Amino acid sequence: MKIIGISCSPRKGKTTRTSLDNCIRAITENFPEIQTEIIDLAGMDLRGCIACGHCMKDLECSQKDDFNDLIPILKDPGLGGLIIATPVYLGTMSSQCKAFLDRTVMFRRNGFLFRDIVGGVMAVGGVRNGGQEISIQHVQSAMLVHDMILVGDGKPGAHFGGTMWSGHPDGIEKDDPGLKTVESLGKRVAQVALKIHG
Ligand SMILES: Cc1cc2nc3c(=O)[nH]c(=O)nc-3n(C[C@H](O)[C@H](O)[C@H](O)COP(=O)(O)O)c2cc1C
Repeated sequence: MKIIGISCSPRKGKTTRTSLDNCIRAITENFPEIQTEIIDLAGMDLRGCIACGHCMKDLECSQKDDFNDLIPILKDPGLGGLIIATPVYLGTMSSQCKAFLDRTVMFRRNGFLFRDIVGGVMAVGGVRNGGQEISIQHVQSAMLVHDMILVGDGKPGAHFGGTMWSGHPDGIEKDDPGLKTVESLGKRVAQVALKIHG
């Protein structure tokens, strides 16, 4: 069984990616039986859905961009969990995150291939309360439309997911409360994914 993390910042190796790395590390350290993979959207040519309807018939997109490389990875029947990490942009997800989610409509149209995949979300803001929870809920809406199974960050916090603050004066790695939420999110996605897909 495999869990994939998607980093949805346009900036490579920055705070969204660091947050996702910490989440995925919590999975690899605690659940060695689970395979993990990170897909970084930074630098990818990833356009928004143009509603051409091409994917109504097949798991294919009419647009010739980097999303096509992601289709075989995402249609893996061994996929048990999907973790989305987005920066907060004006109180919601990044446009890269929205473009990615809209393009995944092909998996819904071709047999609900994300049904029962366990979904977890984290958001990284420059301000401690800059819209992380709202951004998480916006991504969770897309997951519900896919008929995925949503989890939050589980015990002991048990709220909406990973909430990171990149504005910490000593860097994001010092946002201890935030780091606890992303680690906890990773473990929760893994626990539930193992129950369902293990
Ligand atoms: C266009 C834009 C809008 C932003 N809006 C918000 C916001 O509403 N709330 C917030 O807390 N941070 C906001 N930020 C800050 C980013 O969320 C923050 O710097 C984040 O850590 C960036 O992730 P990255 O380092 O992976 O690129 C915004 C940044 C940009 C570029």
